[in-house]
Amino acid sequence: MKLYRLRDHGSLDNLAVEDAPEPAVAPDEVLVRIRAASLNARDLMMVFGPSPYGPKPGLVPLSDGAGEVVACGSAVTDVAPGARVVIPFRPGWIDGPFDPAAIATDLGGAVDGVLAEYVAVPARAVVPIPDALSFEQAATLPCAGVTAWAALDRGAPLRPGHGVLIMGSGGVSLFALQIAHTLGCRVIATTSSDAKADRLRALGASDVINYREYPEWDARVRDLTGGRGIERIVEVGGAGTLPRSMAALAPEGEIALVGLLGNPTQAISPLPLMRTTGTIRGISVGSRADLARLLDRAAHHFEPVIDRVFGFDDARDAFAHLAARRHFGKVVIRV
Ligand SMILES: NC(=O)c1ccc[n+]([C@@H]2O[C@H](COP(=O)([O-])OP(=O)(O)OC[C@H]3O[C@@H](n4cnc5c(N)ncnc54)[C@H](OP(=O)(O)O)[C@@H]3O)[C@@H](O)[C@H]2O)c1
Repeated sequence: MKLYRLRDHGSLDNLAVEDAPEPAVAPDEVLVRIRAASLNARDLMMVFGPSPYGPKPGLVPLSDGAGEVVACGSAVTDVAPGARVVIPFRPGWIDGPFDPAAIATDLGGAVDGVLAEYVAVPARAVVPIPDALSFEQAATLPCAGVTAWAALDRGAPLRPGHGVLIMGSGGVSLFALQIAHTLGCRVIATTSSDAKADRLRALGASDVINYREYPEWDARVRDLTGGRGIERIVEVGGAGTLPRSMAALAPEGEIALVGLLGNPTQAISPLPLMRTTGTIRGISVGSRADLARLLDRAAHHFEPVIDRVFGFDDARDAFAHLAARRHFGKVVIRV
C-alpha cells in the first residue's frame, strides 16, 4: 500500500509518499481502507512546528479519516467487512469524562495517522457512517466537528434563543455555526473578510462583525444583544482574543476555550470574568460518543462545508492550501 510520512518538522518538502506493507490486524482491531481524510490546523503544526506531541520523525500525518472495513480481527463481533466507518481523532477516548491518558492515542500526532491506503484501528472506536453522508463529508468531522460539538453540547446547557459567538471562518467555527443553528441559537460571527461574511450569513449567522474593521468587536456584540452579552463563545483566538471574549459575555455565560490562533503570549486579567460571572471551559476535542452524536446530527440537519477535495497524489498541495488560509470549509484528500 501507499502512505505518506513526515520525515521531519519544518517544511512540506519533508512530506513524502512511500510504499509500506498493509498493517497487521490485532484480534480487537479492524482494517479500514481509507477513502477520504481531512486536514486541521493541528496538522500544520505537525509539519511546520512546534509539534504539540514533541518530535515524531517518520509520522504518518492526519487524524481525520473515513473508509470501509475490509478485514476484522479474530475477537471482533460487532463490526463486519463492508461497513462504512469514520475513525475518531482520539480512539482511546470512547465515552464519559476526559481522560488525559487518551492523548497518547491521538492519530497523526501521538501515533501514526490516516494519510494511508489502509489503517488498523480498535474495532470499539470506529463509528458507522449514516447513509446520508459521503466518505468525504464524514471525514471532515472527527477533529474540528467534534471540537465544535464539545464546545456547545458539553458545559452549561444551551437553549433556543441563546446567543453563540463564533470567531473567524475556520473548520471549528463553521461547524459551531451549523450546530448552534440546529439548536435554535442565534449565531454572531466575526471574520477578517467581507466576502466570507456573506457566506457566514448564508450558513445562518444573524450578524457578522469584521474584526479588522471593528477591533473592539466585544462592544459590537454587546450592542447586538441589547447590552446583555452572549451566552457562549467558541474561542479559537486564545490569549490574543480572550480579554474581548470575557468582555462580550452575558451573565453566567461560558467561553469554550478551543484554540490559540491569536497572540498566545499576551498577559490577560481575569477581572472581566468576575464582572459577568462567566466561566472559561477548556476543550480537548471529544470522545467517540461525541462523534457518534455529531454524525447523527449532521445526517439529519446540516451538510459539512467542504472547501476543496484534493487527490492522494496532491496531498502536499492540500497542506499548502490550508496553510495559505484562503479556505472556507474543510480541505479534504480523497484516498
Ligand atoms: N482544543 C482543541 O481540542 C482543538 C481542536 C481543534 C482545533 N483547535 C484549535 O482551534 C483553532 C482553530 O482550528 P481550525 O481547524 O478551525 O483552524 P482553521 O480552519 O485554520 O481556521 C483559521 C481561521 O480562524 C480565523 N482566525 C485566525 N486568526 C484569528 C484571530 N486572531 N481571531 C479570530 N479569528 C482568527 C480566520 O478566519 P477569517 O479568515 O474568517 O478571519 C482563519 O481562517 C486552532 O488554534 C486549532 O489548533 C483546538
